[in-house]
Amino acid sequence: MNTNTRKFPEGFLWGGAVAANQLEGAYQEDGKGLSTADVSPNGIMSPPDYSMENFNLYHDAIDFYHKYKEDIALFAEMGFKAFRFSISWTRLFPNGDEVEPNEKGLQFYDNMIDELLKYNIEPVLTISHYEMPLGLVKNYGGWKNRKLVEFYERLAKTIFTRFKDKVKYYMTFNEINVLLHAPFTGGGLEFENGQKNEHDIYQAAHHQFLASALAVKAGHEIIPGSQIGCMIASMVTYPYTSKPEDMFAALTQDRKTLFFSDVQSRGKYPTYMLNYFKDKDIHIEMADGDLELLQKHTVDYIGFSYYMSFVASTAPEHQDEKTAGNLFAGVKNPYLKASEWGWQIDPVGLRTVCNQLYDRYQKPLFIVENGLGAVDKVEEDGSIQDDYRIEYLDAHIREMKNAIGDGVEIMGYTSWGPIDLVSASTAELRKRYGFIYVDRDSEGKGTNKRYKKKSFNWYKDVISTNGEDF
Ligand code: BG6
Repeated sequence: MNTNTRKFPEGFLWGGAVAANQLEGAYQEDGKGLSTADVSPNGIMSPPDYSMENFNLYHDAIDFYHKYKEDIALFAEMGFKAFRFSISWTRLFPNGDEVEPNEKGLQFYDNMIDELLKYNIEPVLTISHYEMPLGLVKNYGGWKNRKLVEFYERLAKTIFTRFKDKVKYYMTFNEINVLLHAPFTGGGLEFENGQKNEHDIYQAAHHQFLASALAVKAGHEIIPGSQIGCMIASMVTYPYTSKPEDMFAALTQDRKTLFFSDVQSRGKYPTYMLNYFKDKDIHIEMADGDLELLQKHTVDYIGFSYYMSFVASTAPEHQDEKTAGNLFAGVKNPYLKASEWGWQIDPVGLRTVCNQLYDRYQKPLFIVENGLGAVDKVEEDGSIQDDYRIEYLDAHIREMKNAIGDGVEIMGYTSWGPIDLVSASTAELRKRYGFIYVDRDSEGKGTNKRYKKKSFNWYKDVISTNGEDF
């Protein structure tokens, strides 16, 4: 039992996190099919562009596909204990519905994982991160079609079988709650006139819950002792005032996110959601045995991203002064500063989220994304003095340690984008998260060479001391 020890545990998984489409590039190499990211040149919040005529930074990204050895050597130099990455579904199943996987795609990940293991870096694998085969959108209508459960299960089983001796940690869907905010990215869903259809969204969510439960089942069977988690974009929403209505608005806002982890971790639909469906006349089609499957195969840990907090207010005058975020906007918090992209910086919010999630689920947490997207300047001597990034991460790591002191069990921390990569919400490279600078801009110009930023050595020290100075 943790009794107020403010100390990172032995074996804490320090590292970094990335997603295939945001860094690999090589979008048509070795048999890879097209994914939703390949037709999203403006990022996850914008509609797809099937013309393929507009420049799309995801196509070549930072060319990790060819440079992974060089990049992993730099992660190893920082002392990474873990590296979170995702599998590009279309490298393994180019259209999504093939029966046999593409060997060249599997081979790429085999080689990449071997490179991690060479440096004793624990691979943490996200099965699906913000992209899916375009073939499944065009031919099946995306996740509202139950057939996708079968295709995803095949993908998951292929991954477990191939990497069973090498990878122990998995996540089923990155930020599964993105479905509500960006249904094309989250579920391959398209709507007439762009009008979101809630029924389709929640039907797609039900199918993803089933797919996730089947992956947990298969993962445990194929790899005894494996750890398979969910992953949510976490939100902590504060009431703007102590007015009871504001408090209830904040609670309602957070439930939109927690619904997803409630089903995946508690194994059943929460009553508040069933009531919501009833009020909105939403009827989710379920087959016999679905609820039992969800109940039986819950996740082992709660993975989440944390970038910012939100505010809910019922006052009409607040509804116009929204601040930005990657998935949705909220009311401005007068106590917080924001990043250049308007994301409100709130380290204490991370401590709150950790406590809330741990109180709710009593399962280990894994902070698999956190970081500051900022414009970096290369000085004349070639250095990059990213003190603002150090300040952001320092404050968040301190609060994570406070949460450990509160008694929360945290398995690890993988900061987002340890090497600069293409942003998800705006599809640009101007917004950088890395400890490693990549000489490539949003127009795709540059040498693609890698340089260490000031934060590189800072993070190296954090890891080598296991965060003892916080
Ligand atoms: C998370 C996603 O929402 O936020 C990542 O899982 C994403 O894919 C990250 O890159 C940061 O968002 P952005 O828009 O700054 O890239």
